[in-house]
Amino acid sequence: MQAASTAAGNPSSLHWAGRAARRIVDDARDQLAAYVGCESGSVVFTSGGTESNNIAIHSVLSSCDPGRVVCTAIEHPAVLKPLEQFADHGFETQRVRPDTNGVVTSGQVIAAINDETRMVCMMLVNNESGAIQPVKQVAEYCRSHGIPMLIDAVQGLGKVALHFLQMDVDFMSLSAHKIGGPKGVGALIVRRGMKAVELAPGGGQERGRRSGTENVPGIAGFAAALGQIDFGAFAPVRDHFEKQLKIAIPEVRIMSEQAQRTANTSLFLLPGMDGETLLMQLDLAGFAVASGSACSSGKRDPSHVLLAMGLNESLARSSIRVSFGPGNTMEDGDALVAALVKSRNRLKGMAGLAV
Ligand SMILES: Cc1ncc(COP(=O)(O)O)c(C=O)c1O
Repeated sequence: MQAASTAAGNPSSLHWAGRAARRIVDDARDQLAAYVGCESGSVVFTSGGTESNNIAIHSVLSSCDPGRVVCTAIEHPAVLKPLEQFADHGFETQRVRPDTNGVVTSGQVIAAINDETRMVCMMLVNNESGAIQPVKQVAEYCRSHGIPMLIDAVQGLGKVALHFLQMDVDFMSLSAHKIGGPKGVGALIVRRGMKAVELAPGGGQERGRRSGTENVPGIAGFAAALGQIDFGAFAPVRDHFEKQLKIAIPEVRIMSEQAQRTANTSLFLLPGMDGETLLMQLDLAGFAVASGSACSSGKRDPSHVLLAMGLNESLARSSIRVSFGPGNTMEDGDALVAALVKSRNRLKGMAGLAV
């Protein structure tokens, strides 16, 4: 808010108001760089994770001969969709499937890399299950073999220790709203010496890597949000919720429970139920939960992540995802369990099934 009112200037303007806006952007750049362990010059502010992933993918694939791209089958559509576009230009994408816990192994990803591999794209944390992926080992392999790598760290920021220079990758995508910052702002971290191509050429802002007047209040809000939420602190609430849920609804199946996963996420199945119908019932009861991926909401397709984890369509459609946030308490977890039991009994009753 303060950035919006005090920095009325355009960061590209030379007058005092422009310089004030430029300072806000540069300070935010320094703060983000310090937070994720990169040089300030590596930070390119964008409109979010989607744009960052697209810039990284275009930067590599638009200037090389067609070949193979390796990614996981559980990437966000912001990676899968641009890769699909490159299929029209002769690129073949190898999607590595996870195990039933929603985790790929580094060995599987490395085994999918061949001499024709032009790029590897991997998410750090899955947005539906919260499962943490072994990006470090894959990054080491890619570095030693000179293969460009993008890490989609949108769901990892603030939740998993991140150090761009130590990870030694070429690109890393980030988004502010996943850490409580404003929506519609993010960043692409670009390795020094790696070229980032502009998707929308224009005035040459962000050192020619992303044109368009910078979103000054959004960028300031992104920097202000860094480190503000202790995501690890949600583990007791999430774990309590899952424990109570299993007692109340024994047939529930918690996904990625055996994997290393972020502490704020709970993804579970209620076999025989329709996740979207449950979601609407919970919505009426005041709970904001998701079924499948919020980023692709509005779609009726079952989650590609759950299908890749080996579920059939009917089970995949029975999923509910809960993200715990600041202020959520054990009592909130209990209230959600009670609401789930009520909704599930009502739906079973309507279907003429024994409760
Ligand atoms: C893993 C992952 N990548 C990319 C994105 C897209 O980010 P944005 O919404 O900032 O464009 C999301 C959104 O949730 C995500 O979870």
